[in-house]
Amino acid sequence: MTKQETYQTLLPQIESLVAGETDMIAKMANVTAVLHEAFGFWWTGFYRVEGQQLVLGPFQGPIACTRIPYGKGVCGTAWQRAETIIVPNVHEFPGHIACSSASNSEIVVPIIRNHQVIAVLDIDSTDFNAFDEVDKCYLKQISQQIA
Ligand code: SME
Repeated sequence: MTKQETYQTLLPQIESLVAGETDMIAKMANVTAVLHEAFGFWWTGFYRVEGQQLVLGPFQGPIACTRIPYGKGVCGTAWQRAETIIVPNVHEFPGHIACSSASNSEIVVPIIRNHQVIAVLDIDSTDFNAFDEVDKCYLKQISQQIA
């Protein structure tokens, strides 16, 4: 299966997982599990906006830093810009927060509700250049399903 086909298979599964559920943590937990299992990413998880910081939410993978200030790292920058950031090589991203030295590329997608970023979905890969416009397109749809 191509990456695109995998995402197309996952979209209805995720839709049924989040439909009727109002608790964000519960939705994030299952979405994290689905994505992590399907693609074998290194780290898949959410950070939630709490005041001026992002706070670690449901994730799968190795332990991660618990708090990220607004505008810091890839996650804090995606929050600040309210847009998806694809980082082909995290070692070249100024201010990248290295939770794991094994991570080489990353994508961060903001979860937007009522024009406000309420969380970010962060996915890390040990491969360089693992994420592209296909991931951006489908992860954005998934982030809208959660929001
Ligand atoms: N690398 C992220 C921090 C979170 S960990 O990758 C799980 C960043 O720079 O925002």
